[in-house]
Amino acid sequence: MANDTNRFQAIISHCKEYGFIFPSSEIYDGLSAVYDYGQYGSELKKNIRDYWWKSMTQLHENIVGIDAAIFMHPTTWKASGHVDNFSDPMIDNRDSNKRYRVDHLIEGFADELEKAGKKAEADALLARMDQLLAANDFDGLKQLIEENKISCAISGTVNWTDIRQFNLMFSTQLGSVAEDADTIYLRPETAQGIFVNFLNVQKTGRMKIPFGIAQIGKAFRNEIVARQFVFRMREFEQMEMQFFVRPGTQKQWYEFWKEERMKWHLSLGISAGQYRFHDHVKLAHYADAACDIEYNFPIGFKEVEGIHSRTDFDLSQHQKFSGKKLQYFDNDLNELGKPYGNYVPYVVETSIGLDRTVLMVISEAYCEEDLSTPDKADSRVVLKLPPMLAPIKLAVFPLTKKDGLPEIARSVMEECKPHFRCFYEEKDAIGKRYRRMDAIGTPFCITIDHQTLQDNTVTLRHRDSMQQERIAIHTIKSIVDKLIS
Ligand code: GAP
Repeated sequence: MANDTNRFQAIISHCKEYGFIFPSSEIYDGLSAVYDYGQYGSELKKNIRDYWWKSMTQLHENIVGIDAAIFMHPTTWKASGHVDNFSDPMIDNRDSNKRYRVDHLIEGFADELEKAGKKAEADALLARMDQLLAANDFDGLKQLIEENKISCAISGTVNWTDIRQFNLMFSTQLGSVAEDADTIYLRPETAQGIFVNFLNVQKTGRMKIPFGIAQIGKAFRNEIVARQFVFRMREFEQMEMQFFVRPGTQKQWYEFWKEERMKWHLSLGISAGQYRFHDHVKLAHYADAACDIEYNFPIGFKEVEGIHSRTDFDLSQHQKFSGKKLQYFDNDLNELGKPYGNYVPYVVETSIGLDRTVLMVISEAYCEEDLSTPDKADSRVVLKLPPMLAPIKLAVFPLTKKDGLPEIARSVMEECKPHFRCFYEEKDAIGKRYRRMDAIGTPFCITIDHQTLQDNTVTLRHRDSMQQERIAIHTIKSIVDKLIS
């Protein structure tokens, strides 16, 4: 594929064409930065979710999982700092009093440029805007608006205020009578559901520090730069884990989780060269260390996961705002010759976006292969997904619709489908059927043919190598089980 922008576009088209990811409510022209997962996308997403959950909870005896509500008491977000600090820039036109998000205003102007045939100018403008937004450079953004003479659609003037912050949280009303209703927020991260349940879990699970609480769930952000498919969405899913530790040990646990999470990423079969750590130099006021794990997406190296040493900030804030003690009584300190003590634990967080992980896994797997021979031009698109994550593990094909072959294929389906996701098809030439399975990443296909009638063997076709081998029909389940685990 010629360049990475083309590759990214090809991946987006492939996701739509093969039932992985659709624009949300597409029949109404979609909703910006919101996406739906189709029949194969939702299976892939579920497999990644399950793999993370198992790695974090089942394989770490000191980590348990919870499922907190999306709606939380509004004071949660005051305590966490999101009400005051979770914001992006906006601007007002002094003549019309109309308020714009800065990115929307500039994007609207870029659309007009594009319609006027000035695509290169539009792209350069958007690229500059993204840089300035990332740097929080409000003066630079205002200058960009002025230099391009971007005007208000209502007043037609360029009489703008300075740029100010815009909160990224979505709000709604709780309560049936409008006057009495409280403003509540759709959570912008799942982490706070863990913090407010710290004591519930610690006490009921008799958890001893160090221990972790994991959670997977939806989060919502009214994102300002949202043009990168499922990389940046307004409704997305996070997989987060807060690890509660003794004050003073957080650096050691931060290093532990950096290493542990990188191991998890490598276990997806992605090579080390495709990842890098980005250590934060400028830290949030509550953090004493932070880094991102970045993956080499077709749009460049970008964050897929954050690892943050958040000190005791969140629990202390909730303690302050709720008036409830969120402390841990550390018996073991006595054994270490230190006095018994209550303290607010420190927290090391690992936070990974599920949708970004789906995009990462698909980007890594997507291959366009030239299979031409001197006599014939040929190619295929194949998703080389790790078998454990593939939406369908095994496709079962009778070579023809007659001679009893479908009946045998059906009996293979009956045997295998309780154990892993199978797919049955008898339409079209076998080559076409294989190619369709390649495109959705099915690692193994079984073909029942006339030789099966004679010797009870079938063809097992491997997706990546396209190699075929004969295996005994009664071994299909155990062979595929082994290959996908
Ligand atoms: N609790 C910490 C936290 O939320 P974050 O860096 O804002 O930290 C963590 O988000 C992860 O969530 C990111 O690394 C990314 O994978 C994912 N994420 C954040 N915003 C997202 C968005 N708008 N769309 C998709 N994924 C997003």
